[in-house]
Parts: sequence; C-alpha cells; structure tokens
Amino acid sequence: MVQSDLSKQRLEFVPNIPKDWEHLDRIEVVEQEAISVDEDVRFSFPQTFSQKPLRFSLGEKKEHDRLRVGVVFSGGQAPGGHNVVVALFEALKKLHPKSELLGFLNGPKGILADDFKVLDSALLAKYANQGGFDLLGSGRTKIETKEQFAKAKETILKHRLNGLVIIGGDDSNTNAAFLAEYFIKEKVSCSVVGVPKTIDGDLKNTHLEVSFGFDTATKVYSELVGNVCFDALSAKKYYFFIKLMGRAASHIALECALQTHPNVTLIGEEIANSQKTFWQIVEDIAKVICQRADDGKNYGVILIPEGIVEFIPSFRQLTLELNRIPLQQFETSEEKLNAVKKHLSPKALGDFVRLPETFQKQLLIDRDPHGNVPVSKIESERLFIEAVKKELNYLKHQGRYRGVFKPQPLFFGYEGRCSLPSNFDCAYCRLLGLEAALLIHAKKTGYLASVANLSQPVERWQAHAIPIVSLMHFEERKGKKVPVVKKAHVDLQGAPFHKFEKHREQWMLSDAYRYPGPIQFFGPDGLTNAVSETLRLERS
Ligand code: FBP
Repeated sequence: MVQSDLSKQRLEFVPNIPKDWEHLDRIEVVEQEAISVDEDVRFSFPQTFSQKPLRFSLGEKKEHDRLRVGVVFSGGQAPGGHNVVVALFEALKKLHPKSELLGFLNGPKGILADDFKVLDSALLAKYANQGGFDLLGSGRTKIETKEQFAKAKETILKHRLNGLVIIGGDDSNTNAAFLAEYFIKEKVSCSVVGVPKTIDGDLKNTHLEVSFGFDTATKVYSELVGNVCFDALSAKKYYFFIKLMGRAASHIALECALQTHPNVTLIGEEIANSQKTFWQIVEDIAKVICQRADDGKNYGVILIPEGIVEFIPSFRQLTLELNRIPLQQFETSEEKLNAVKKHLSPKALGDFVRLPETFQKQLLIDRDPHGNVPVSKIESERLFIEAVKKELNYLKHQGRYRGVFKPQPLFFGYEGRCSLPSNFDCAYCRLLGLEAALLIHAKKTGYLASVANLSQPVERWQAHAIPIVSLMHFEERKGKKVPVVKKAHVDLQGAPFHKFEKHREQWMLSDAYRYPGPIQFFGPDGLTNAVSETLRLERS
C-alpha cells in the first residue's frame, strides 16, 4: 500500500467524540426498558431473547481488567471500518495497557480457520481514517453448521478471548446473534458484539439510525451521478441508465436522487407497493423520454437500484422460485437451465423464458452463502435499455415519439465502498469502536453498538446498545424460513420519500440537476460535516 498525500493528511485527523467519552474509565453501562422481540424469534434464542437495551453514563473512575478481544470484518466493504478497529484498540489499551486485539482475516472464515494477525499500535497507525477493509480483508461465510460453531468455539478458547467484535451488516449480525446464543449455551465466556456496517443503509430501525458507510458511499455516488447529469446536459445526446448499489432496499438511489435531481429514479419499494409490471415501468420511462423529446431534449439520467429485480412482482416471484432450486449442484448453464424448466411454476417459467438469454444466465449465478441473489452481477440497466428501446420504436411507428435515443449503461457500486470515509463516518466509527470495547468490559453479549442523535453535532450524540435479537424476524432463505436480522426498506410514508415525491415531476422535464461535488475534508463546517439528506430528513 502506498499512501497518497491526502491519505497521509487523513492519518492526522482526530474525529470528534462526545465529551464524556474522553473519560473511558468512568463510563458505565446501564440497562434500559426491555424492547419487544418477535414471538417466533424468542424460541430460537432462549438464552438471549430477554436482554434489555443499554445506555452509557458517566460514573466513578473504575479499574478495568486486562482483555483479549478478536475482531472481524464481515460482508461487503464500507468506509469507516478501519476506524472501528483503531478505536477498539485505543479503548482496550486505555482501559488496560496489557489488553490485546487479534484481527481475524478475510471474514468469518478467519475465525473458523484460526487465521489471524495480532494488531498493534504501529500497524494500526497506518489505518486511521482510511477506506477499505484491507487491514484484515473481509468475506461472507455464514456460520451455520454444528462443525462451524464448534470450530468458532475452539478458536475462542484457544486464544482465551473475552470478546469478539463482528463488524457487519444484517447477515453478519445474524451470525453474531447465533454465536452469542451458542457461546452462552456452551458456557464459553466470550461476549459477541456487532457493529452496524453496510453502505446499503438497510440496517436500521427506530433504535438504530443508520449503518456506517452509507454516508460516505452515497456522497461518492452522488458526486458521480452529479457529474453524469452535467455530462448529459453538456453533450445533449445520451440517456444514462445508472444502476446503483443497494441490494435489498433503494436507500442509496433515493439519497442520490435527493442530492442530484436526475430525471427518473426508480424506487423499488414504491414499485412493489404499486404492483407495477416490468412493462408498465418501461412505459413510464418511455413516456418521460417522449415528453422530453417534444421539448427538444434527447438526453437525461435514469437511476435504477440494483435490487430492482426483487421488487418487480413477477421477477420477485421468479427469483423466490429460483432460490428454492439447488442451482449450485449443477455445473454448466445448460444443466441449470434444464433444472429451471423442471422446477419453475408455469407462470414463473413463462416470465423467465421471455427474458433475454444473458439476463436469464445472470439470474442463475450462485447465491451467496446467506442465500442472497447477487444483484450486482445482474445488468438491469441494460435490460431496461433494451426494453425502453423496443417501446420507443413502437411509439415511433405510431408517430408518438420524434426523438433520438442513445442510451449509455453505467453501474456505480464498488466505486463507493472503499472511499476515504467522510468526517461523519470517521467519527461515528470511532464511537462505535469505543463502545464495543466497553460492552465487552461489561461482559455484555449479543448486542449491537449504536449511536442516537446522529443528525445533531457530535457533542449531542448518544451511544447505546441494542439486543441483536430485537432486530430479527423470520425470512425465507434458500427456500427455508429462518431467523435473520430484518432489512429496513425505504419508508413510503417517510420524509425522504415525501421530499422526492414532491419534486420528481419537476425533475423529470426541467433540467434541475444538482452537483454536490466530492466529499470535503477541509473547510467550512457546513461542507465537511453535512449528514446525508436521508438522515437529516428522517431524524431532524
Ligand atoms: P453488505 O450488506 O455486506 O454490506 O454488502 C452490500 C453490498 O455492497 C451490496 O450493495 C452489493 O449488492 C453487494 O454488497 C455486493 O457483494 P459482493 O461484494 O459479494 O459482490
């Protein structure tokens, strides 16, 4: 790794934390009123279902024990992760100078294979406020079999770990909840603490405001989308169809729309709610293109959330049925296609065969270990382009379209996951890391570190912790109902969607493009510390 001048400057940055947190040795963990847990989930977590949420308060100075802690990155990269590890180390050492931190390599499989590195201050000094997860690597292994649980236990006992911090999204925190439950049952005294990570922004609820990484990633994508809007406006010849990451929810697309005002933004949750068919959505897009052509505008920008295929009702049914077929058992795409023909219902098969062949093949790519469809590999931007082209040709024959359609497909996904974290994510992750250390000191297990009041200045942020089981529900994965952390979808009654709804007609036809520019690290507070529109509208 070679550090740029900016990376080096960022190493010097010390993210703010609320004042109380300067006195780590005085912070106490206090139980709060219990919150409800899904009735079915209770049965799967007999050891941890009754845990109460926690808050932190300033008390008397205390002696702290020496601790040994393990940490792991799990799932997709998100800016800010390194700060969690750096702050975890900072807190452990402040509370007891002989405490130790091990980093498991390449995701949860590092725990199972006992693949780790010992973290020290010299190494961590190179990672403060840096993007990526390259300090440890990441991975998506699901810990689910008896053997895997036993392996995890073996590793924890071998290293005499008092705590394990899992930095991950919904699926990784599902892993954390199961491990916490298992360790209690097996009398392994190791606290498991989750840290909410995912650029997708779908790990949130009333008690959890946002996951880290969403702020930075949406700022990066908004910069790129803003650039593309002005490219469209300058050359006046292209329609850009931009697919944006966000596997199971459209928070990223919505935030980018609020920041940049493209002509059309598909919001998966709205489509699911309206039960629109694929061809109805295509007609809607074509209508906007026709109207703009009548105004002499043959250019524009259309945002598509990558998870769109799972929101359009007919595709949703199709992917659900495909997920129930053990496609990984077949090697060639021909064998997979035969299995599909055998197992799909007549309706789903009809929908499947009408799709272009490349798209059919993309729908059959192996699911990840958690059973998720790899939507980043499904080129829905191209599927929409082809369908809109067909519709526009039809309208042209009818004399209803008089424009020229030159589409350009783009996908902004991986570009946003390893950026230098924004000041917001730097500070948020630092506090999450400090919190994780205190939870382990307090021997609390099965909790997710969290912070409230995030739309306010850092001084007013309030750290707290949520029992992970309170975030869980039952969901179908790989054809079976299993307990998992619930994903948060865009709330169609929420303030961010309302703002989008209010302005979108205007953004369709007028070129009200907005250019938010790159993330700012230096300069006026309003620029360097602005939170996402989603968080501001939801929480202020
Ligand atoms: P997490 O939920 O693990 O944070 O990952 C989310 C994500 O970035 C999605 O936006 C995207 O669809 C997916 O990861 C891509 O996964 P992969 O890195 O395995 O291709």
